[in-house]
Amino acid sequence: MKTIRMLSLSALQGLALLGAAHAEPAIFKDADLALGQKLIAQNRCSECHAQRVGGDGSGIYRPAGRISTAGLLRGMVEQCNTELGLGLFPEEVTSIAAVLNRDHYKHK
Ligand code: HEC
Repeated sequence: MKTIRMLSLSALQGLALLGAAHAEPAIFKDADLALGQKLIAQNRCSECHAQRVGGDGSGIYRPAGRISTAGLLRGMVEQCNTELGLGLFPEEVTSIAAVLNRDHYKHK
C-alpha cells in the first residue's frame, strides 16, 4: 500500500515537471536560449554582478523582487542594454531575458 502511494506521488511530480516545462511566458516563446546564454557570457553580466553580490553573481537576480513579470524582466535587460551601451538587438535582449527567466525568475 505504501509503495503504491509513493509511486503515484512521483507520477504526479512528473506531471508537474512536464507542466512547468511548457509554462513559458508568451514573449519568450521564440527565444533562442543558446544565443542568450552566449550573450550573457560575452557581455560579462555575471562578472559585474559578482563584484556587487559575490559568488557567481546570480544573487543579484531576485525573483521575488520588483522584477515580478516576464515583461518587466525583458524591460530590465533592455535598460541594461541601453545604459551599458551593449548594442544588443531586440531579439538578443529577448533571448537573454528568456535564459534569466528559465534559470532564475521562472515567471509564467
Ligand atoms: C557594469 C556592471 C553590470 C553589468 C555589466 C551588468 N549588470 Fe545587471 N546589474 C548591475 C547592478 C549594479 C544591478 C543592481 C541594480 C539595483 O539593484 O538597483 C543589476 C541588476 C540587474 C538585474 C535586476 C536584478 C533584480 O532582480 O532586481 C538584471 C535582470 C540584470 N542586472 C541583468 C543584466 C544582464 C542580462 C547583463 C548583461 C547583458 C547585465 N545585467 C550586466 C550591474 C551590471
